[in-house]
Amino acid sequence: MYRKIPIIPLVVIALIVGALTAAQTFVIDWVPAADSVEAERSFTLLWFLFWASVVFFMIVTSVLIYAIWKWRAKDDDLGDGPPIHGNTTIEIVWTVVPSLVLAVVAVWGYIVLERNEAVAADRLTVDVYAQQFNWTYGYPDAGIETGTLIVPAGRQVQLNVRARDVIHDFWVPEFAIKGDAVPGITHTLLITPTKPGTYPVVCAELCGVGHSIMRSTVKVVPAPEFSAWLAKAAAGAKATSAATAAATAAASGPGDVAAGRTIFEATCGGCHAGLGTEAGVGPRLAGIGWSDEQIRAQVTNGKGAMPGGLVSGTDLADVVAYVQSIQ
Ligand code: CUA
Repeated sequence: MYRKIPIIPLVVIALIVGALTAAQTFVIDWVPAADSVEAERSFTLLWFLFWASVVFFMIVTSVLIYAIWKWRAKDDDLGDGPPIHGNTTIEIVWTVVPSLVLAVVAVWGYIVLERNEAVAADRLTVDVYAQQFNWTYGYPDAGIETGTLIVPAGRQVQLNVRARDVIHDFWVPEFAIKGDAVPGITHTLLITPTKPGTYPVVCAELCGVGHSIMRSTVKVVPAPEFSAWLAKAAAGAKATSAATAAATAAASGPGDVAAGRTIFEATCGGCHAGLGTEAGVGPRLAGIGWSDEQIRAQVTNGKGAMPGGLVSGTDLADVVAYVQSIQ
């Protein structure tokens, strides 16, 4: 009953269509390199979808182009064409085959999601903070914060993504994992980087005028190098916080008025004339009536034209004692 299928013209058209479609794969970089375990899984599925689409596109388009060319209406033909009843066999085929393909993709997609969301027992936890317009990374076990995300290769990293102001979106294209940073919510992302190297962290959610420059860097390093770095950074943080605590304690202690006078003269006297008893570039300090705490805060933080941090530690305690002595 069927006419002979015109195999040769259909195959020729299909090959041309297929070649043109496939060429896009090589001309355009559609996806970055897959440098995480999760990216490998996702991109494999993505490429399966792409090539399956190319095959079906070739079949459908070659039949369509052949039919348009072969059975186009003549110039003087104004008729409706013969009435045609459907073809049950073809209809069953074009329903069953796509259903099977979709079933494969659904199961495959479920497996990828399931595996990408499986939590590893030995994972590293890092807190990610998004804020207009930069990223900071906290390592809770080491008690440190950094501006560059440093992670070991071959170990799962759990990123607890948070926002300090508006909605941002953490994205490393090569890891194929992406998640919104929403104020009030902690969004957990699981990434297992595979290759040491440096990758860009991109904010993928319009978050204000600086959105396009809200970039950062993630450095993937070999596991031993990471452990060494983390231990060193943690030790450094401990030393710094101990030093800060000591300085704060010293600054709060009772100061020496005579020593404070000398320091005041050298450091503050240029602006606070008459050793603080007259108005100069800076105001007169005698009779200002501030508490020790207020003076300490003013010297430490600065205000207006006065820079902060000119005096600290025991020197600060001495200066506070001196300023109080001229009240
Ligand atoms: Cu942050 Cu866009």
